[in-house]
Amino acid sequence: MLQRKLLIFFVLLCATAIGVFSRASWILDVYQDFFPPQNESVCACNKCLMDYDPWLSELMKESPEPFLSPTNNISEDTFNWWKHIQTDRRSFAFYNETVNKVFQIFPTKVNFTRSSPDLCRTCAVVGNSGNLNGSRYGPLIDFHDIVIRINLGPTKGFERDVGNKTTYHVMYPRSFKKLDNTTHLVFFPFKISDLLWLIRSFTQRQKETAKSGVKTNTNLVMILSPAFMKYVHYVWLEKHGRYPSTGFLTLVLSLYLCDEVNVFGFGADKKGNWNHYYEEIKNKRLRTGHHPGKLEYQYIEKLHKQRKIHFFRGW
Ligand SMILES: *[C@@H]1O[C@H](CO)[C@@H](O)[C@H](O)[C@H]1NC(C)=O
Ligand SMILES: *[C@@H]1O[C@H](CO)[C@@H](O)[C@H](O)[C@H]1NC(C)=O
Ligand SMILES: *[C@@H]1O[C@H](CO)[C@@H](O)[C@H](O)[C@H]1NC(C)=O
Ligand SMILES: *[C@@H]1O[C@H](CO)[C@@H](O)[C@H](O)[C@H]1NC(C)=O
Ligand SMILES: *[C@@H]1O[C@H](CO)[C@@H](O)[C@H](O)[C@H]1NC(C)=O
Ligand SMILES: *[C@@H]1O[C@H](CO)[C@@H](O)[C@H](O)[C@H]1NC(C)=O
Ligand SMILES: *[C@@H]1O[C@H](CO)[C@@H](O)[C@H](O)[C@H]1NC(C)=O
Repeated sequence: MLQRKLLIFFVLLCATAIGVFSRASWILDVYQDFFPPQNESVCACNKCLMDYDPWLSELMKESPEPFLSPTNNISEDTFNWWKHIQTDRRSFAFYNETVNKVFQIFPTKVNFTRSSPDLCRTCAVVGNSGNLNGSRYGPLIDFHDIVIRINLGPTKGFERDVGNKTTYHVMYPRSFKKLDNTTHLVFFPFKISDLLWLIRSFTQRQKETAKSGVKTNTNLVMILSPAFMKYVHYVWLEKHGRYPSTGFLTLVLSLYLCDEVNVFGFGADKKGNWNHYYEEIKNKRLRTGHHPGKLEYQYIEKLHKQRKIHFFRGW
């Protein structure tokens, strides 16, 4: 244990030096607990995500810890990057204070099953693309151990195409919806006010929302670290776009939560429209905003081609 701590200290020290002398210091946030992809079999599936692969290992080795916790502090550089993506003017001190408040309400330790040689965690990552409409993927999606859904991503009325099981539901305030009390809320904060919103939603507003709004199980809330967003932006997307999309962040995050990832509901439908399976198109060929949609899509295709994930293209 002590040796491990010393090792971590040493690695951090080196990372500091590298950060100072060459590249940006997001390296400072590198996470030590998820081992980078390696050669020994690390799960019980036929093929494990963490099996060694030069390309993916290179991408993942610099990853920080994905979830915020009271001990997973972010660096000032990370804070400044994060603050600028949504032009929030408040200070690092205020951020610290807010994070402290957050962990007075939510679990200080995230609870998910980590990889182990006798486990095979299969996951379906379900995006909201219109290409799910008519796909009849429902039973296939539900067959996975873990089903990860994104933003509004409804199941009611769409079971045949998208299934009905949700293990993790990724959301940010604008996409907030009620979850049942066995579903983990995976909250993506893009600014300090998102964290404040989260606090408000679970405290003073609790009474009003009991009948309509947030009714999520507080013990199952997990919050994505700004350091992870920055890592995906710098390392995966090489600073293209302003920041990564929720869908893409979810996909990269799934590489940590799962041993096998199958991806559904990403990309355009067969007519080239970027619509959702749950709403009729008003705005054909919806654009991807601040996000480098094309590059993100190329990653999905490459991960598929390298047989790291399986991408179901839909209908
Ligand atoms: C895995 O094997 C490759 C090729 O044999 C080697 O280059 C790499 O260093 C190994 N990685 C680890 C983490 O053992
Ligand atoms: C993070 O900050 C808290 C409070 O400032 C401190 O108690 C904790 O040790 C820090 N953790 C790390 C890993 O630096
Ligand atoms: C915020 O917290 C981090 C980590 O605990 C610490 O390094 C930093 O000095 C704090 N900043 C301010 C302004 O409080
Ligand atoms: C973590 O989750 C598992 C399974 O969902 C549960 O059995 C366990 O009690 C949880 N642990 C904590 C500390 O919440
Ligand atoms: C999902 O559907 C299955 C079979 O159709 C049903 O048994 C199950 O209770 C449903 N689960 C939820 C969470 O609605
Ligand atoms: C979920 O909510 C139902 C009804 O409110 C309650 O009976 C059940 O015990 C809750 N389950 C958990 C795991 O909290
Ligand atoms: C789904 O497909 C059906 C049949 O093609 C179509 O009528 C319906 O409008 C589509 N739904 C959405 C939300 O695009």
